Amino acid sequence: MNNAVIETILSRTAAKYYDPAATLSDDDIRELVRIGTTAPTSFHLQNWRFIAVRSPEAKARLSPIAWSQPAITDAAVTFIVCGQLADSSVIPDRLAPLVASGVMPETMVQEWEIPARDLYMAYPQRQRDEAVRTATFGAAAMIYAARSMGLGSTPMIGFDDEAVHREFGLTKDEVPVMLLSIGTERSGNWAQKPRRPITEVLNLV
Ligand SMILES: Cc1cc2nc3c(=O)[nH]c(=O)nc-3n(C[C@H](O)[C@H](O)[C@H](O)COP(=O)(O)O)c2cc1C
Repeated sequence: MNNAVIETILSRTAAKYYDPAATLSDDDIRELVRIGTTAPTSFHLQNWRFIAVRSPEAKARLSPIAWSQPAITDAAVTFIVCGQLADSSVIPDRLAPLVASGVMPETMVQEWEIPARDLYMAYPQRQRDEAVRTATFGAAAMIYAARSMGLGSTPMIGFDDEAVHREFGLTKDEVPVMLLSIGTERSGNWAQKPRRPITEVLNLV
């Protein structure tokens, strides 16, 4: 089986080297995030925020608290992909546009809010797990969108999360889940790495 989407998925690698002269316009950055926000989220919570670090000043603030990884200075943009702790009280607001556009009947809003409240509100670990899941899905969509646009990407956990939280004004319900650099690659990046065999990672039951 092959098509353009599968080819995009199969050919992606994590870039190490970026062309420091290549930039992305704010419209390009908005488009990447718009695509990212079409990813699925639990109860349509959309519990994410993306901080686009793209100016030299902002890069200089991020670099020392992110292991001075070269991607931060060289890639056109590095997103601080934030997940927000799952909070069922936002559901009526998040679903209002669905009701207004006729996608969902109004009576269903409560039918989503109540199980979400039961699932999350007494369970801080689940709230945080959902923040991480949401941000990860969003980042993944952006990674493949970038690849399809001919851009490289690097998801990064090599940063000081408390320092990033402080320096970029995250709120107490926000988790800096990962950094995601995106930009034009330069030569020298590694080829696709082999994967563990399917027999090791798949259980057919
Ligand atoms: C959650 C996560 C964190 C990562 N953190 C870093 C990082 O801090 N720095 C880095 O250079 N690469 C980082 N990577 C890239 C991985 O090393 C890379 O994805 C892995 O070696 C597989 O290579 P591939 O993505 O090219 O297939 C990270 C990847 C993920 C998914």
